[in-house]
Amino acid sequence: MVQQFKEAKEIRVGVVGYGGAFNMGKHHLKEMEAAGMTPVAVTEMDPERLAVATKDYPGIGTFDSIDAMLAESDVNLITLITPHNTHAPLGVQALEAGRHVVCEKPLAITTAECDAMIAAAEKSGVMLSTYHNRHWDGLPRTAVDLVKEQGAIGDVYKIDCRMGSRHLPGDWWRSSKTISGGVMYDWGVHLLEYALQVIDSEITEVSGYAKKGFWAPQIKWAEDSNEDEARAVVRFANGVWLTLTISTLDSDPKQGIVEISGTEGSIVFGDPHNDYRLIQWKDGNRTTTEGKQLETVGHRYYENVAAYLTGKADLIITPEWSRRPIHILDLADQSAATGKALSAKYA
Ligand SMILES: NC(=O)c1ccc[n+]([C@@H]2O[C@H](COP(=O)([O-])OP(=O)(O)OC[C@H]3O[C@@H](n4cnc5c(N)ncnc54)[C@H](O)[C@@H]3O)[C@@H](O)[C@H]2O)c1
Repeated sequence: MVQQFKEAKEIRVGVVGYGGAFNMGKHHLKEMEAAGMTPVAVTEMDPERLAVATKDYPGIGTFDSIDAMLAESDVNLITLITPHNTHAPLGVQALEAGRHVVCEKPLAITTAECDAMIAAAEKSGVMLSTYHNRHWDGLPRTAVDLVKEQGAIGDVYKIDCRMGSRHLPGDWWRSSKTISGGVMYDWGVHLLEYALQVIDSEITEVSGYAKKGFWAPQIKWAEDSNEDEARAVVRFANGVWLTLTISTLDSDPKQGIVEISGTEGSIVFGDPHNDYRLIQWKDGNRTTTEGKQLETVGHRYYENVAAYLTGKADLIITPEWSRRPIHILDLADQSAATGKALSAKYA
């Protein structure tokens, strides 16, 4: 039974990682505060970034390691905002110490790591969730509304997700295969999470494809560089298929980051928040409508976490939900390495 609080302000939150790439530490603390929780601690191994945290939150507890934070702070919800290969070890450590954990996406790199985190949460009776704030982006909210509420394109039979074009990857940790998990583990996880909201079916099989080695000699990670381009093709029990392609090599990428195809039309989304194009067949005629996406309301993520921990709502982003995109990417990686389609063990 997960520990419940009477009021959100009793949830004392700490973040691990206060990095400078997108200033995500401050973003999380602000959203948690807005949801009624109380920021009490920041852990960061880079002293310069810890100084930024102190400037943003004067008087907040500061620590240079999760060990110190767990030993010295009364924080009861920890959010991990660190590079991807640290999520599982830091998460298991915090969960075993009896703290609730929110982990930035991806939950982990492998399915086995996700399972170890889920087992640790269950053993300690605490919450584990993934910061899928983009679950509430305009794109998936609009897709779910058009497909499931309005039936605007008939029966969905495929979804194609894609991002990226030819460019030299940066020398940051996101380009290291070991640290990031691979080229599909950043935006690819968001795109899969969008698509899985539309496809209500079990994953049955995954094929992976990868082109490697083109950029590797030019960036600092060399042999450990991410794939130049990778693709996952996913088969679902209901017959729907899903493709995800993330590229740093494609000189002529197709327009649209998510394209949903149904028996009566298609929806093409060019970005996560703005417009969409709806193609429909009516009485034998093809019509095209340009529409505005529903509002992006990512702050609802922490509102739901606070409501869950105070016994007012079910948890929307469960660890089982956020394990699904990781299971796809893990299988795609193994499939690309072996050249064979792989069955999903669970979905
Ligand atoms: N949800 C979103 O829209 C979104 C947006 C940006 C980043 N992210 C995610 O946030 C996470 C972090 O990305 P970022 O862009 O903030 O990276 P970043 O490199 O800017 O920050 C990571 C920070 O973690 C610190 N760190 C690493 N290991 C640590 C440890 N063991 N203990 C304490 N601090 C440690 C580093 O010193 C660094 O400052 C990733 O999982 C990324 O995918 C999500």
